[in-house]
Amino acid sequence: MARSVTLMVTALLVRFGSAVAQQAGSDLAYEPELPPDLNSPHGSLWPLPQNVQISPELYRLSEVQFRIVHSPQSTASVGCSILDNAFRRYFNYIFSSSAKTDQRGSGINGASSRSTEELRQLQVTITATDPECNQHPRISSNEAYEISVMQPVAILKSESVWGALRGLETFSQLVYEDEYNTHLVNKTEIVDAPRFAHRGVLLDTSRHYLPVKVILETLEAMSFNKFNVFHWHIVDDPSFPYQSITFPKLSAQGAYHPVTHIYTLTDVQIIIEYARERGIRVIPEFDTPGHTQSWKGQNNLLTPCYNGEKLSGMFGPINPVLNTTYDFVNQLIKEISWVFPDAYIHLGGDEVNFECWKSNPSITQFMQKQGFGSDYRKLESFYIQNVLDIVTANLKGYMVWQEVFDNAAKIKPDTIVEVWMASNMKAELSKVTLAGFTTILAAPWYLDYIKYGQDWQKYYQVEPLNFNGTAAQKKLVIGGEACLWGEYVDATNLASRLWPRASAVSERLWSSEETKDLNDAYKRLSKHRCRMVRRGIPAEPLFVGYCDYEYKG
Ligand SMILES: *[C@@H]1O[C@H](CO)[C@@H](O)[C@H](O)[C@H]1NC(C)=O
Ligand SMILES: *[C@@H]1O[C@H](CO)[C@@H](O)[C@H](O)[C@H]1NC(C)=O
Ligand SMILES: *[C@@H]1O[C@H](CO)[C@@H](O)[C@H](O)[C@H]1NC(C)=O
Repeated sequence: MARSVTLMVTALLVRFGSAVAQQAGSDLAYEPELPPDLNSPHGSLWPLPQNVQISPELYRLSEVQFRIVHSPQSTASVGCSILDNAFRRYFNYIFSSSAKTDQRGSGINGASSRSTEELRQLQVTITATDPECNQHPRISSNEAYEISVMQPVAILKSESVWGALRGLETFSQLVYEDEYNTHLVNKTEIVDAPRFAHRGVLLDTSRHYLPVKVILETLEAMSFNKFNVFHWHIVDDPSFPYQSITFPKLSAQGAYHPVTHIYTLTDVQIIIEYARERGIRVIPEFDTPGHTQSWKGQNNLLTPCYNGEKLSGMFGPINPVLNTTYDFVNQLIKEISWVFPDAYIHLGGDEVNFECWKSNPSITQFMQKQGFGSDYRKLESFYIQNVLDIVTANLKGYMVWQEVFDNAAKIKPDTIVEVWMASNMKAELSKVTLAGFTTILAAPWYLDYIKYGQDWQKYYQVEPLNFNGTAAQKKLVIGGEACLWGEYVDATNLASRLWPRASAVSERLWSSEETKDLNDAYKRLSKHRCRMVRRGIPAEPLFVGYCDYEYKG
């Protein structure tokens, strides 16, 4: 959101260009010495688990012997495809094939391989009667897990598959290679669970179209960082790439290209399933009544603007005074509720420009009839209220941007209010939670803003609960989102702009409040970033240095 703010700040940067960059560089607290010592007592773990004990005792893993298996006590077994697939995936990450094609070391005859015991298995135990193999992750899913790495078998234990997915990622991060390419793991005990339940990444597929493959790669990288929500800002002013079954004209006329730049039902279902397999919820955002210029494929939906007495030929936000508007919204919401299985839909509701509504005589008339005076926020709330009732009737919960709350629409008690305005963020968090609403924080994490230097530190140092409120109020903050708005982002630069900067957000939302040592974070994040590179994600560097396995494209 905050597109108007973006323009202002951009203008500033253009004008004061190098001075701003200079200053941005100098206010960074920590610039590591060269060459940096990258040895953290927590290895390369990211985000840092809540409780970790790593001992100096080492075990070796061999690609030929090692197996990830269901334990005999587990309530899940072979056929729980979400786990079977994850076992395969993580086996491959651990014994990544890029190692073999690289010109380093001599393989199996390393010194450490002779002197250490071998770890033969990782046994995974699910304890709940229903392991949830075929379900979708929910806001209430239990992601807690425990790992015990001890010779001859390591144990991973969780209530449901969701904790096991997080634990598999952690286990894969414990394994490393020595200089002879021997795979090693330290004796380790971990007890872990996320601090916040909602840990999201927002992608914007309206300002630029993102190919399905890029979205899948992002979901994969999200799972390396234990993110669990993909907030899909799927449509907006510039384009409408969602191919609706009920209203195919929306993408036929609103997408950048009606065939090549759309998401079909199959595309959407592939994305949802790929996300599910990684414990990630997909929450679509259909932002209205503003941000809808691309919805022009639906006749009589947008408000015709006037220039004095005459139609100007321009269109404004969705027309809130026509009954047909709500018939349309009802049918669209019905479809979206079916296509997207998550319990929540994001309804937007931000930055509505009232100028066009003000120019339109039938809207003026309606305002008078309703007794709204000249307060167009009341008209906006009237529209939002109708939409909220429609969504409720379709048995979905909703998320909204903060303006919906600010403008006093009557929202359901389980509404999630997303706070995005950075200037008054703390006051807003106090207000929203005082009113008893659940909230998530996006304001400090607009990753589309870039500047010289290590800006991950700024994202990392945010403390979401640092606002005035009671313990009960703070409980209502259930997480946050790293937002990558799409003005200057498409498939060419998405991954390197998002990673590892979003990783800073992932640790803030997963790890304990006390996890805030920038020095230790730098060491682990440098390695985590190289691990993402090794797994095929072109994550950008933090600072001067190198990776054992550089990105090869
Ligand atoms: C793992 O064990 C090795 C060998 O004892 C030790 O040097 C290293 O510090 C340990 N790693 C961690 C993260 O404690
Ligand atoms: C719109 O619906 C309301 C409520 O059902 C009704 O009172 C009103 O007459 C309708 N308006 C038009 C223009 O059909
Ligand atoms: C909390 O309220 C006090 C007193 O009104 C104020 O001084 C302080 O700055 C506030 N803290 C935050 C984090 O907003």
